[in-house]
Amino acid sequence: MTSGSGKKTLDRALSRAGLCSRAVARQWILAGRVRVNGAPALDPERWVDPRRDALSVDGRPVQERERVYLALHKPVGVLTSRTDPGGRRTVYDLLGDVDEWVAPVGRLDRDTSGLLLFTNDSDWAERIAGPDHRVAKTYRAKVAPRLAEEALGRLRQGLVLDDGPTRPALVTKVRDAGGTTIVELTITEGRNRQVRRMLRAVGSRVRDLKRIAIGPVLLGDLPSGRVRALTREELRSLGR
Ligand code: URA
Repeated sequence: MTSGSGKKTLDRALSRAGLCSRAVARQWILAGRVRVNGAPALDPERWVDPRRDALSVDGRPVQERERVYLALHKPVGVLTSRTDPGGRRTVYDLLGDVDEWVAPVGRLDRDTSGLLLFTNDSDWAERIAGPDHRVAKTYRAKVAPRLAEEALGRLRQGLVLDDGPTRPALVTKVRDAGGTTIVELTITEGRNRQVRRMLRAVGSRVRDLKRIAIGPVLLGDLPSGRVRALTREELRSLGR
């Protein structure tokens, strides 16, 4: 929650400073590690004004962190989560020693590869991946059986999934290859397994799915498993 005057709940204020996720902030607060104006603060929902109130964690003043914006080429088989109890590889195993706390902007399924953004700027992340976002994401899918023109038309118009109708999509057939079609879809939503479900709804199964663009940011020739910083131009066109 935020109010119009710059006030925020304490957990959100810590996360907005680029320090940690809200969930981690709540743990710190409940563990008594956070103070507001020198006094212990044990309520994550407490309203604070980060411009006026002095916040500290473990006795260290909270300062706005430098903002970090990264692009990862996620390989197939890697989880979009911080840890995995089963010991499987996660995207954090690929980020190397990024100093700042960063979180993924949205997510990709374990069996999807491609472009995944990370940041410690939670306001920006919410605008890119929040429920009302309209930032276009482009996926390249290999599907079987082949997609007929009629199926491409249905994908373009929008179709009804079990969690409601999809918005119209940009759909370009790249080519047919053997019994498969390679197709690019640009959607402005980020529902769970949306692309797979859309293709299933028109009678095909995804064999391979890769996200190749988020708005103006292209996966390009970033090697699988590698990370790069977003450029100024990319950030400008994504509202930063
Ligand atoms: N749509 C999917 O089906 N999977 C993803 O990982 C992303 C979009």
